[in-house]
Amino acid sequence: MILIGPSLMCADMGNLRDNVIRLDRAGVDYFHFDIMDGKFVPNFTMGPDMIRALRNSTNKPFDVHLMIERPEEHLGLFIDAGADMISVHVEATPHLQRTLKKIRDSGLKAGVALNPSTPISTIEYVLDTVDYITVMTVNPGFAGQKFIPLMKKKISKLKELITEADYDVNIQVDGNIGYQTMPEVLQNGANMLVLGTSCLFKQELTLENAVLRLRRFIDRFQMQSSLRSKEK
Ligand code: DX5
Ligand code: ZN
Repeated sequence: MILIGPSLMCADMGNLRDNVIRLDRAGVDYFHFDIMDGKFVPNFTMGPDMIRALRNSTNKPFDVHLMIERPEEHLGLFIDAGADMISVHVEATPHLQRTLKKIRDSGLKAGVALNPSTPISTIEYVLDTVDYITVMTVNPGFAGQKFIPLMKKKISKLKELITEADYDVNIQVDGNIGYQTMPEVLQNGANMLVLGTSCLFKQELTLENAVLRLRRFIDRFQMQSSLRSKEK
């Protein structure tokens, strides 16, 4: 199952509720909120109040990506605002396992995000405490950046690690996921896509058409890969 999640930092900030309602109706699977503190990443975006304000506009899961230092000190704010899933950066806390467990014990899905240079060995001993792993395919902090090619190899190594350890963990990719980069990240094992300016929020497309085009592309990809596996 390939899940698609709009990155709301790329949405029309002046019509956010409208965008969420339209994207929900168009059939996205979840909504991705990028939270930044100006320290862990050199930018600021949205906060818990924006999550709370949008909570009653959709029943789709809210995936909150904390690009903040010491995320364990701020979980309650996002849990109370209506998050269903929270990912924290392995680089942002010395207490990763405890933080992930706290997210899960609060009834949410727990994710861990890795900056491009961070090796996958850093999350080897939390595979039993995590529901998804986010491979940053750009340096976190800004939309519109370029995909880092080595991340393709990182995704397949991560898929190998998860498969070998026999855990049910999703691989999310976040950053410049578009029509050029999608086939390889999907082939290598990613199944949760964070979609921003690279293929969803485009001037020339309505949100509805962008989601339709995306779904068709993914369906074609899945058809071709099932044909390929039958030929083997
Ligand atoms: C990067 C953000 C992502 C993403 C936005 O920090 O977390 O949401 O880059 O999508 P693109 O890269 O397609 O603009
Ligand atoms: Zn993100």
